[in-house]
Amino acid sequence: MLTANNALRREDNVVDIRDYVAGQENKGLLRFLTCGSVDDGKSTLIGRLLYDTKLIFEDQLATLERDSRKHGTAGDGIDFALLVDGLEAEREQGITIDVAYRFFATPKRKFIVADTPGHEQYTRNMATGASTADLAIVLVDARQGILPQTRRHSMIASLLGIRHIVLAVNKIDLVEFDRSVFERIAGEYRDFAADLGFDTIQPVPISARHGDNIIDPSPNTPWYDGPSLIAHLETVDVDARVEDRPFRFPVQYVSRPDLDFRGFSGTVASGRVALGDEVTIAKSGRRSRVKRLVAHGGDLAEAVEGQAVTVVLEDEVELSRGNMLVGPEARPHVADQFSANLVWFDDKPLLPGRAYILRTETDEVSATVSQLKHRRNINNFAQEAATSLELNEVGHCHFSLQAPIAFDAFADNRATGAFILIDRLTNATVGAGMILRPLRRAANIHWQALDVTPQSRAAIKHQKPAVLWFTGLSGSGKSTIASLLEKKLHAAGRHTYVLDGDNVRHGLNRDLGFSDEDRVENIRRVAETAKLMADAGLIVLVSFISPFRAERRMARELINDGAFVEIFVDTPFDECARRDPKGLYAKALKGEIQNFTGVDSPYEPPERADIHIPTVGRAPEELVDDVEAWLKERGYC
Ligand code: ADX
Repeated sequence: MLTANNALRREDNVVDIRDYVAGQENKGLLRFLTCGSVDDGKSTLIGRLLYDTKLIFEDQLATLERDSRKHGTAGDGIDFALLVDGLEAEREQGITIDVAYRFFATPKRKFIVADTPGHEQYTRNMATGASTADLAIVLVDARQGILPQTRRHSMIASLLGIRHIVLAVNKIDLVEFDRSVFERIAGEYRDFAADLGFDTIQPVPISARHGDNIIDPSPNTPWYDGPSLIAHLETVDVDARVEDRPFRFPVQYVSRPDLDFRGFSGTVASGRVALGDEVTIAKSGRRSRVKRLVAHGGDLAEAVEGQAVTVVLEDEVELSRGNMLVGPEARPHVADQFSANLVWFDDKPLLPGRAYILRTETDEVSATVSQLKHRRNINNFAQEAATSLELNEVGHCHFSLQAPIAFDAFADNRATGAFILIDRLTNATVGAGMILRPLRRAANIHWQALDVTPQSRAAIKHQKPAVLWFTGLSGSGKSTIASLLEKKLHAAGRHTYVLDGDNVRHGLNRDLGFSDEDRVENIRRVAETAKLMADAGLIVLVSFISPFRAERRMARELINDGAFVEIFVDTPFDECARRDPKGLYAKALKGEIQNFTGVDSPYEPPERADIHIPTVGRAPEELVDDVEAWLKERGYC
């Protein structure tokens, strides 16, 4: 990153260093991001901005000129894209692979620009780059006009809280500086962006390659009377209103170096707090007062948005990571259900009902999309019915959380109103969400405490309840084994019940088919049912393909108390297809049945089943004996 000190070298040491640094600090800061498709010229534009604002060192310049001759695509001129596409790998692949932040300054303002790539994973990178940006430069190739990506980027920018757009109509030189081309593109953009709620949209005709309308008005576009790109970036009013927003302080950790000191460390997400101020603990509503504000250089009288600080309170209060200290007047929401816009950026689609990890600034909780209300069409922003979200799609969802979190609406606070979703098995970030509002539907449903407990129900049956969860391919032998085992348990006086896929799909789950979404819901309902039966004191035998690890894990966590026993009935695909008890494999292999497990729908075998039973070459009775022995050892029968 370029520093003020480096910049000084370019100004021939004529200014006093202290004045210079002070001047830099007092200048306003504009954060923006650039978005566009692969060939729209983003990297060239950023390189041009850095170059023209004269913050490139001579030595970098020398390297650049040398590299341009070697790798560049600009003939003898300087290839500005090389300035930005710093990584070797990127040059080789001809794409930009991660978000890169660049710093530059003019006498009026400082700028941080996030360069977000335009290829497949762009929504992920854009969400990262945009989370703090005030403005987005949407690049359009004058020859191509507005593309689906332009619309998608603009919609995501709007969702991510960006209120200011520069529509940079690039490569205007390649359409002979034609005014009508520019005006047509600008008009079309204004029309479709009308509903996106931007405060300003500034179209500028530019040539990033040749510098037209970047710093100075270009003589090639005498018909354009708007500002140059830099002139606009220097003057656009993005007004953060830091002062009057409510105080929010998400606690990162409790600092307790010795018995005499207990403070809460974090960064002020919005507003301000001063010594003696009354503060409220978001989740409990308890109040206290600020006794000390400890920062790196010593104690402070006041801390404002963006400052890292350790807050010491007057009272001993219950407060830890994931909770927030807030102003007593404007409290955040605390709820376990809310609606949100979700941008999905995983190759595997979002499946409602599946448990993901939802992470806010400091809090983390297991969460599911309880309803996918609609998906947004990127061309006309229409709301469309959908059962899942694919890579780069945007949807309006209802979320249900395992425990309440403290949050604001994203429109009120971009820090405390945003979250990411993480896949529980791969740990990959799969989506980014912007909270719309809390949902109170379930707030009046309380858990009814019952006098007869699961323990007393189990005791009267003289047994240890369990959920014996059989998973495996269709025809692997799950139902045969479960049914034989139930007979034995029953004969031994145990109270049992078998939940079998084929049977439950005739009743409770009659409405479900075999898409991934439906299988997730199938397993969710069966897990809930099995849990109730185990609470009733039964030994429940569940026999479902249950092809996904995520849902089997969800079932395990739901049932808890060690009562969940995962049994992998391990019969290879070829063997199941050979046995083919229901004739389904023959049909599936001929393409007569769609989404058949093992053919065109996946099966994810357990990594660590509690009981693993390879079936090939063994009689069902022997296998049941094995399971029974395992259960006996642990006191289930
Ligand atoms: S699961 O994947 O959602 O757990 P489940 O165990 O309920 O599946 O149902 C599987 C049974 O449905 C199979 O044993 C088979 O008899 C029948 N079936 C019908 N179509 C399919 C299909 N496309 N894929 C798998 N099983 C199917």
